[in-house]
Amino acid sequence: MSVYVLVKIIHILSASVLFGTGMGIAFFMLRAHLSGEKQSFISTSRAVVAADWLFTTPAVLVQLLTGLWLTHQLHFAYSSAWFVSVIGLFILVGLCWLPVVWIQLRLSRLAESHHGSPEYQRLMRLWIGLGIPAFLAMLVIFYLMVTKAGVGITLFN
Ligand code: HEM
Repeated sequence: MSVYVLVKIIHILSASVLFGTGMGIAFFMLRAHLSGEKQSFISTSRAVVAADWLFTTPAVLVQLLTGLWLTHQLHFAYSSAWFVSVIGLFILVGLCWLPVVWIQLRLSRLAESHHGSPEYQRLMRLWIGLGIPAFLAMLVIFYLMVTKAGVGITLFN
């Protein structure tokens, strides 16, 4: 197996971890929230914070580094519409994800004393509001990865 194929497999595996962990976290957090059970929410939100550090953080780094390496090996231009869109969307996902990590931490602490309070509800709404664009941006990234749409379009010199 060539180094290229190995790096590409790592890139795809880390994409699966990124997307899969995101979906899993969203499902379990929402379930615990909708159950209305304080203890269930506290333990789930704590597990979710740990999962983000353990899986999402390394996957984000691996995704970026392997992605840049693959782009370089394929001689795709950094000025192409494809690359600019991918990096732009990747940054957008990151900008949604960073506050989400903080919100989850805050929610897990808040739930102990103020479960269901207006502040708790506000953070839950914000958490959902940031998750939706991040999820949609991930779908577009998958599309761009598979189709390579815009690779031949140069945006600047
Ligand atoms: C900095 C961001 C990224 C860059 C620069 C990048 C770059 C690349 C490149 C150059 C390829 C082509 C490899 C080939 O065809 O041999 C690729 C494939 C792929 N990437 Fe990314 N990637 C990035 C982020 C992501 C993200 C966030 C995901 C999804 C979560 C993702 C999922 C995939 C998948 C599934 C493939 C395989 C597509 C196929 O072979 O048809 N990538 N990536």
